[in-house]
Amino acid sequence: MAYELENLISDCRTALQPGRSKEALEKVCDAMKRILQNPEFVEQHFGAHLEVARTTLHHDPDLDFYIYAHIPNGAIMSPPHVHASAWAAYGQAIDNTGMTDWVIPEGEALPKPVRTYSMTPGTAGFYDVGELHSIDMPATSRFLRITATDIDPLPCRYFGEVDTRKSIAESLT
Ligand SMILES: [Fe+2]
Repeated sequence: MAYELENLISDCRTALQPGRSKEALEKVCDAMKRILQNPEFVEQHFGAHLEVARTTLHHDPDLDFYIYAHIPNGAIMSPPHVHASAWAAYGQAIDNTGMTDWVIPEGEALPKPVRTYSMTPGTAGFYDVGELHSIDMPATSRFLRITATDIDPLPCRYFGEVDTRKSIAESLT
């Protein structure tokens, strides 16, 4: 039997029921990796026939997490940011996403990149509360995302004053 959306929801609920932890978020990512191995699921929610959208596949009534299918409107290069009090997990469905981890060095005001890597189809990873990251994706990138809550109204901190591409190039390449 294929691993379906209801399996993903159920496994996320089981993982997150005891509360947020690195172990719980690892389990969420494991579930994301499993569903991304289901070609029918990927085609249904990320296929070439679909328009640009952020589709809510599930909002959990008890635990408040959201599962989204993202089909971005063009290439995206975000500055380093944190999602306020929320965690976020990313699972790559189509093409790739460049991910970079950042930290604010002791005594400094702006973050510096510490690791950059490419997410490829079937991979998943999370950023816990307060963990800085930036994304760099082509227009053809499509991905699954699970967030702790609705992060849109949260006071997410975006370090728009950082020259993201230049900083990554200077520090990591
Ligand atoms: Fe993010």
